[in-house]
Amino acid sequence: MRLVVSVVPVAIGWGMMLAGCDRIPLEQPAATDAVASWDGLYMTQCAGCHGADGVRGPARPLADPAYLATVSREDLIRVIARGQGTFMPAMGTVAGGTLADAEIERLVDGMRKVWGKEGAALATPWAGAPGSAQAGGAVYASFCQSCHGAPDGRSAGSAGSVTDANYLRLVSDQALRSAVLFGRRDLGGACNGPYDGQPRDRRLSAQDVADVVAFLASRRPESGRSTR
Ligand code: HEC
Ligand code: HEC
Repeated sequence: MRLVVSVVPVAIGWGMMLAGCDRIPLEQPAATDAVASWDGLYMTQCAGCHGADGVRGPARPLADPAYLATVSREDLIRVIARGQGTFMPAMGTVAGGTLADAEIERLVDGMRKVWGKEGAALATPWAGAPGSAQAGGAVYASFCQSCHGAPDGRSAGSAGSVTDANYLRLVSDQALRSAVLFGRRDLGGACNGPYDGQPRDRRLSAQDVADVVAFLASRRPESGRSTR
C-alpha cells in the first residue's frame, strides 16, 4: 500500500522534521565557516528530508544524475532559496531562511558536480505548463495503474497509491511532475519507463507528462490545492 511504502516514511520524516523543526534552520554554519564544503552544508541542511547521500529520504532523491542534468542550475538555486510552497522550506536569506546566496550556489554546484556527473538530460523539461486532466486519466490508466493501482485514492498496487488525498495534499504539482519524470530511482520507481515487459521506447511524451500531472492534481481535495 502506498501509505505504508511511501507516505508513512514521509509522515515519519515530517514527524522527525517537525520535532527537530527549530533545529534544522538553526544549524547554520557559523559565519566564519565560509569555506565549509558543500557536502557539510548538505548534511546539516538537507539530508534530514532528502536522505543521507541524497537518497532514500522522505523527499525525492537529489543524488539522481538524470534529475540534476535536466533541472537548470538557476531553477535549483531558486527552489532551494524560495522553497516550493510545500514542505520544501524556503532556505535562502532572501526568503527568510538561513542560507546565503553563496552557500546555495556552493551546494548546487557541489551536487551537480558530484551527483550529477554522467547524467543525461531528459527530452522533456523539468517544469512545464499544466496539461489536461481529462487526457491524463487515460495516460494514468495506460502507464501508471499497473503499479500504482486504480486512481480511487485507496487502491495501492505494488508501488502504492498516488491518488491518496493526504499524499496529494503534501506535494506540489512540480513534485508530482518530477516524480513522473524521474521516478524514485532510490526506491526502484521508474515511472517514466522503460516499463517491465514492454518495448523500451514506450515512454511518456511531454504532453502525456503534463496531462497525467494535471490528472493527479485534479484528485487533490480543493482545500489542499497546491499553487505551484
Ligand atoms: C523539511 C524537509 C526538507 C528540507 C530540510 C529540504 N527539503 Fe527539499 N524538498 C522537500 C520536499 C517535501 C520537497 C517536495 C516539495 C513539493 O511538494 O514540491 C522538496 C523539494 C526539493 C527540490 C525540488 C524537487 C522537485 O523537482 O520537485 C529541490 C531541488 C530540493 N528540495 C532541494 C533541497 C536542498 C538542496 C535542501 C537543503 C539546502 C533541501 N531541499 C532541504 C523537503 C525538504
Ligand atoms: C513499474 C512500476 C511503476 C510505474 C509503471 C509507475 N510508477 Fe510511479 N513509482 C513506482 C515506485 C516503485 C515508486 C516509489 C514508491 C515508494 O515511494 O516507495 C513510485 C513513485 C511514484 C510517485 C511518488 C514519488 C514520491 O515519493 O513522492 C509518484 C507521484 C508516481 N510514482 C507517479 C507515477 C505516475 C503518474 C505513473 C504513470 C505515468 C507512474 N508513477 C508509473 C513505480 C511505478
